[in-house]
Amino acid sequence: MEKLYDHYDRLHDYVRLSITDRCNLRCVYCMPKEGLPFFPTDKVLSQDEIVKMIENFAEMGVSKVRITGGEPLLRTDVVDIIRRIKNVSGIEDVSITTNGLFLAKKAAALKEAGLDRLNISLDTFKEDRYKEITRGGNIEQVLDGINTASKLHFKKIKLNIVLIKGQNDDEILDFLNYTKDHDVNVRFIEFMPIGNAEKTWKKEYIGLKSVFDICDENKIKYHPIDLSGNGPSDNYQIEGFSGSFGLIHPISSKFCENCNRLRITADGYVKACLYWNEEIDIRKAIPDKKEFRRLIQKSLDRKPLNHEMAMDEEDRIIDKAPTWRHM
Ligand code: GTP
Ligand code: 5AD
Ligand code: SF4
Repeated sequence: MEKLYDHYDRLHDYVRLSITDRCNLRCVYCMPKEGLPFFPTDKVLSQDEIVKMIENFAEMGVSKVRITGGEPLLRTDVVDIIRRIKNVSGIEDVSITTNGLFLAKKAAALKEAGLDRLNISLDTFKEDRYKEITRGGNIEQVLDGINTASKLHFKKIKLNIVLIKGQNDDEILDFLNYTKDHDVNVRFIEFMPIGNAEKTWKKEYIGLKSVFDICDENKIKYHPIDLSGNGPSDNYQIEGFSGSFGLIHPISSKFCENCNRLRITADGYVKACLYWNEEIDIRKAIPDKKEFRRLIQKSLDRKPLNHEMAMDEEDRIIDKAPTWRHM
């Protein structure tokens, strides 16, 4: 079958698949204090539906799959899902984005099932602050998870830090220093007006130039590096350090021109862009490859060239937020 291209000739070979909408945290930028109503179980794609869907995608040239949530490790069959996806012919790279709370328990099984790469959310190193940002999470569990995973030789471990002005921007140096002895990629992410952040993001947004400013103030020398894979982050390494750091700046500098991703929601909708409200239900079409392809192509044909998050035509920051679901 032909590969998947959108109107702007962007090849789409990377699927981000949400396997649950549930989460065991309620991070301030993601969820309201009272949490969100979760789907009833039968609304969520079954393991067989997920595998069949990935087989369809693999026939259309998709070779990379990222498992997301909510919190994907909450799903009791996550290890089986990964093992089966990794065995689909054509799928070369399987990764997961997790909050890390259950990682210590599951890392070995995930590795054995064939998981290649791990992205772990960690917005602070401070216990109290972690509790505040995540509304109750225990940082020891995450650090334990990172240590356990580090010993298992995954191809890559990345830490995701959403920078929030006045909350964790005083820890940039700590995160940079963490890469001295830890072979991880620490990624600073610009706070986006999504999830629960619509009301607060404008005063809490901080551009990633601040990371370079901290390097300059501390006379830290760094150079750009090329990490394999074409994700949204620009990567750098501090001279002599074993890990690296990356910047994900959807607001101050869009990276849409290289976008190669399709998003699938936990209830089986395709969404071509994080910032595109249109979703197409592909669940019923899973058994019918031709119809499945038609729907995916329809979604791609409408994919915008750029997201319009938070910017007007002259690239000034404005209050504008799309609807948002986890993925
Ligand atoms: P890899 O490049 O495979 O490591 O994946 P990733 O960095 O995209 O995965 P991850 O789930 O860790 O996402 C990191 C951050 O990038 C999150 O804050 C995402 O919301 C953001 N992000 C990922 N993809 C997109 C995208 O297509 N558009 C925008 N605006 N943000 C994205
Ligand atoms: N802005 C930036 N990143 C966000 N994430 C969730 N909500 C936001 C937001 N409003 C990040 C999480 C996680 C990744 C999947 O998305 O921190 O690392
Ligand atoms: Fe859960 Fe991730 Fe949202 Fe935090 S950002 S509440 S860990 S889904």
